[in-house]
Amino acid sequence: MIYSLKQVSKVYNSRHGKVRALDRLTFDVRPGERVALLGPSGAGKTTLFRLLNATLRPTRGVLFFAGADVGALSRKELRAARRRIGTIYQQHQLVPSLTTLENTLCGKLGSWSLLHTIRSVFQPSRNEIEQAMAALESVGLAEKRRARADELSGGQQQRLAIARVLMQDPQVILADEPFASLDPALTETVASLLLGLVHNGKRTLVATLHDIDLALRYFPRIIALRDGSVVFDTTPREVSREVLAALYVTESAAARGEIGDERARNEKGEPNCEPGCAR
Ligand SMILES: Nc1ncnc2c1ncn2[C@@H]1O[C@H](COP(=O)(O)OP(=O)(O)O)[C@@H](O)[C@H]1O
Ligand SMILES: [Mg+2]
Repeated sequence: MIYSLKQVSKVYNSRHGKVRALDRLTFDVRPGERVALLGPSGAGKTTLFRLLNATLRPTRGVLFFAGADVGALSRKELRAARRRIGTIYQQHQLVPSLTTLENTLCGKLGSWSLLHTIRSVFQPSRNEIEQAMAALESVGLAEKRRARADELSGGQQQRLAIARVLMQDPQVILADEPFASLDPALTETVASLLLGLVHNGKRTLVATLHDIDLALRYFPRIIALRDGSVVFDTTPREVSREVLAALYVTESAAARGEIGDERARNEKGEPNCEPGCAR
């Protein structure tokens, strides 16, 4: 197993008291699996991601990554584990003042010493440039290599975040809403790009999506979260549209007999729409 969760809970201590973001999750992910995580906002998807990439520890329960209890790893082992996991966050976590090429080179950050990183980002070797340019070409950003990250549109930043993960070359790719700010044509491109990365079964992909159709089309396994619990964990074949739609029904909408649509909500919440973006 690449991941094994046993009764994993996460409770945040906020100013307004305790928030149980995840409640006793138990499931496994095998190497090479492609898993889509669905669920309305607040379901706990991002929290789960941060547990899976070992930046958060469970409050209760045990999370194993490649056989090791993440909660029991030393700092050194934790760093080594994180290098094997590439995360594409909803907020792209790019360095705004660096160029597209420099940001891509930052993908190697975890595997290099600080000195090597500084040298490689600002004076990369020919080989490093070639790798970074190949990554940028595959996401269609080669001609933007000299543009600063903060000069890119939301969709371009999203693709840059993917290029950086390509450069990292991790065992596991975690992507939080990787298609959220892309127009439909780019979504197809980036989806086949991401799925191509895990195609040979050597890499594992876990992605949160708000687009149910994309999840059904591209992912052999769907895990649905709601209020911090798994509602279902199944294949696209075994899940009906009604069940999926019900996942997004808000209590107030249910009371009014309406169906909530995550996409409608995302229009407001997601500022990263490229010009020409259909949504
Ligand atoms: N740092 C935090 N402090 C307190 N509560 C948090 C924090 N992060 C998330 N939460 C809460 O945990 C729950 C799950 O959030 P999150 O994992 O971001 O869900 P999703 O990504 O599915 O929208 C929500 O109720 C959210 O308000
Ligand atoms: Mg989230």
